Parts: sequence; structure tokens; C-alpha cells
Amino acid sequence: VSLKAIAEAPCKVIITGEHFVVHGGVALAAAVDRKVRVDVGESGSLRVRSEGLGNRSGPSLRPFASVLAVMSRVYGTPSRLDIGVSSDIPSGAGLGSSAATMVALAAAVSELEGLSLGVPQIVEMAMAGERDLHGRPSGIDPNVCASGGVIRYRLGEGPSKVELQGTRSFIVAVSKQRRSTRRLVSKVSEMGGRYPSLFAALAEAATDVSSLAEERLVHGDMEGLGRLMTYNHAVLSAAGASNQVLDSLVNLLVSLGCPGAKLTGAGGGGSVLAVAPRGKEKSTIADLKRRGIEAFEAKIPVAGVKSWLSR
Ligand code: MEV
Repeated sequence: VSLKAIAEAPCKVIITGEHFVVHGGVALAAAVDRKVRVDVGESGSLRVRSEGLGNRSGPSLRPFASVLAVMSRVYGTPSRLDIGVSSDIPSGAGLGSSAATMVALAAAVSELEGLSLGVPQIVEMAMAGERDLHGRPSGIDPNVCASGGVIRYRLGEGPSKVELQGTRSFIVAVSKQRRSTRRLVSKVSEMGGRYPSLFAALAEAATDVSSLAEERLVHGDMEGLGRLMTYNHAVLSAAGASNQVLDSLVNLLVSLGCPGAKLTGAGGGGSVLAVAPRGKEKSTIADLKRRGIEAFEAKIPVAGVKSWLSR
């Protein structure tokens, strides 16, 4: 029986500051308890099996090949492996399934080859695949998927961990619209090209929101955090990241008693993040499901990527 390594990485939500983080703003992100699992084993060729989707081929293999290639160059690991992927989360939902996949892949290869790579090295390797998928991503997604917990992130400064006492509860509602992060990031960036000073002011506002949101989150002022998130949604909407489906999900969640809600991740579809109404988490999710909306409770903080060997 051949040796395999398995790694599991959590998905993520952006609490505040997405998009503007690509342009130098500060964002706040948390890992959530939905996972991607990757297993790797020795093989003469590169093969990627996705649960439910069969074998991947063509361009969808490229991000996997890129991570293996950079690891092979830096650490001398094999550039062809047999890879299996399974996930709790649909891709294109704005919950970082691609980052979680790339992080779990790098961690599994590290485990298989006995490299004991730390979080920064795993993120660096995962970024090779993220660039294939999204163009010029800020790196916030793989950082939070690898480290777990809550991070504050700014390009060039890297992640810093936000420590929480106890847990905080959110609701994630998944719209059924899949979208491309790359397309949304360039749409918002184009707005920046057209109105540089307006865009700079929005970026500044997003950074302010993230600092205030971090403080409310740490102190457990979830009402205050919610208000800031709804405000952040309006800013993202002004920058072109929202649409009618997301706007109505935000309004619905607030009308059901959530202290605040916003799109999370790239937007244009994907998911909405809301502060859960205290004591009404389960009933709110049941209500959303009755309306045909896929939703789950996300309690934070959760642990980051982990890996192990199996025979
Ligand atoms: C995607 O989760 C977050 C974006 O800000 C893109 C990025 O930071 O790379 C939209």
C-alpha cells in the first residue's frame, strides 16, 4: 500500500475590506468551519481527482501544476503526484475554496515529503496557484486559510493575528450565483482607474471600517460590528461589487434581525455574511432555508490547515 498525505484547510470569510485590500487597504478575515481536503500520493504523472467532478483536465489542472512546480524548484519535491480533492463548499461562492485547496495541496506535499513547512512557506507556495486562478490576488485568502483564526491584512505588511476571547457567531447565506473573482477584481479596479480620487477615498474608508470593526469584534460588540459591516456593503456596492441578489439578501438578513450584513469576498454573486442575531441563530437559518436560501452558522475562531500521513 502506498503512502499518502492528507491535509485539510478551512474556508474563509472577509469580515471587512475586500477589494480595497488589493489596492493597499486593510481587511479583516476569518477562517470558518467549512473545509477542503486534499490527499497526495506518489505517481508517475499529474492526476487531479475532484469528488463528484471526476478527473480534472486542461486549464483546471494548471493551478495544481503551478504549486507542484514551485515546490519542486524550491524544495526538490516531485512535480507529478496523484491528487484528490473534496470540499464542503461550492467553488465560486466567495468563501475561498480555491485558496483552501491550494493551501491544503502545499501542506499535503510538505507532509508527504517530510518538509515541516510553516504557515508563511505554505502560503508562499499556495500563491503560485492563486495567481493562476485570480490574476493578482492580495494573498489574504491563503493567509487566513493557512493560519486559521482571524487576521488583519495589508499588502506588504502581511497578516497579523487578531486574538479573540470566546467565540463569535455569524450567518453565511450562499447565493446560487457563481462568479469569477478575477472579473470582479478587474471591474472594481476599473472604477479606480476612472475616478482615482473617489476610489482613494473609498479605499481609505474601507481601511477605517476594518480598524473599527476589529475593535468591535475583539470587544464582542456585535451590534456595532454589524453596523460597520452594513456600511461596508454600501461602499462595496458603490464600487461595483454588488448586484440585486446580494443587495436583497443583505436587506433580508437585516430585516430578520441580524445586526448587520454585507457581501463577502469578491461579490457579484457568491455569499453574504451577517452577524447572527443573538439567541436566534438556528431559527434565522431555518427561516432562510424555508425561503430556499442556503445558509449556515459560522462560529469563529477555527483552526488553520492541518496535515497527516496515512497508509
Ligand atoms: C477575495 O476573497 C478578496 C478580494 O479582495 C480579492 C483579493 O484580496 O485577492 C476580492
